[in-house]
Amino acid sequence: MKKIFAANWKLQKTPLESKSFCEEFLASIDSNFFSDKEVFIFPQNYSVGLVSQTVKGSKISVGPQTVHFEKSGAFTGENSAELAKKFGCDLVLLGHSERRQFFSETNQALAKKVTLCESLDMLPVFCIGESLSERENNQTESVCFSQLDQGLSSADKNKRIVIAYEPVWAIGTGKVATPEQVKDIHAKIFSHMNSLGFKNFQILYGGSVKSDNAGILIQIPHVDGFLIGGASLEPQSFLQICQAK
Ligand code: PGA
Repeated sequence: MKKIFAANWKLQKTPLESKSFCEEFLASIDSNFFSDKEVFIFPQNYSVGLVSQTVKGSKISVGPQTVHFEKSGAFTGENSAELAKKFGCDLVLLGHSERRQFFSETNQALAKKVTLCESLDMLPVFCIGESLSERENNQTESVCFSQLDQGLSSADKNKRIVIAYEPVWAIGTGKVATPEQVKDIHAKIFSHMNSLGFKNFQILYGGSVKSDNAGILIQIPHVDGFLIGGASLEPQSFLQICQAK
């Protein structure tokens, strides 16, 4: 199975900076690059159109960092999945912990977003993960499972979905989860997804992934790739992570 390397640029990069990133990245890779991996980019919303256009014809997939659960209508300030699709996007990042924490995104709203993305044939990259206090209270598994149960309650089990496990305490903090912690929770998420009946899914790890820890983390069973924030902002740093085997 191909490994997935997903860049989450959050509120960073102008459209032109995003375009130059893609040009430099594409100029640095050879024709075999995508034989064993997929690359996803989630640019800031202003840049989604230009990034899509820039990578057109390459195998890089692009998507917004969130969407509204309705396709269109009177929802001032929201992002439309349907419009993103028209720009050439074929994926959407959903349920990132910053969306859950700062924008009160609920699993119920996420369930509708997953359904909408699937109806548009856009691949959901669905984020889950526990906070530090939840981990300290031994709730890691129950938090992740309930995010999956509720957020994917109406998902089509035959369609492909990507899960990104990101412990909230490891995001942007430099505190990466230990290989034992990653191994344990990824195995549990894998079994849980199977028990829910999902047939085609991959599980990414996210949270302070860098070129110096990617090589160890990628070898852990059921780590199918990474969701990368800070270290995805420079083309060469992202490229080094993409070369982890
Ligand atoms: P980080 O962010 O790699 O900077 O920790 C990961 C994420 O938020 O997806």
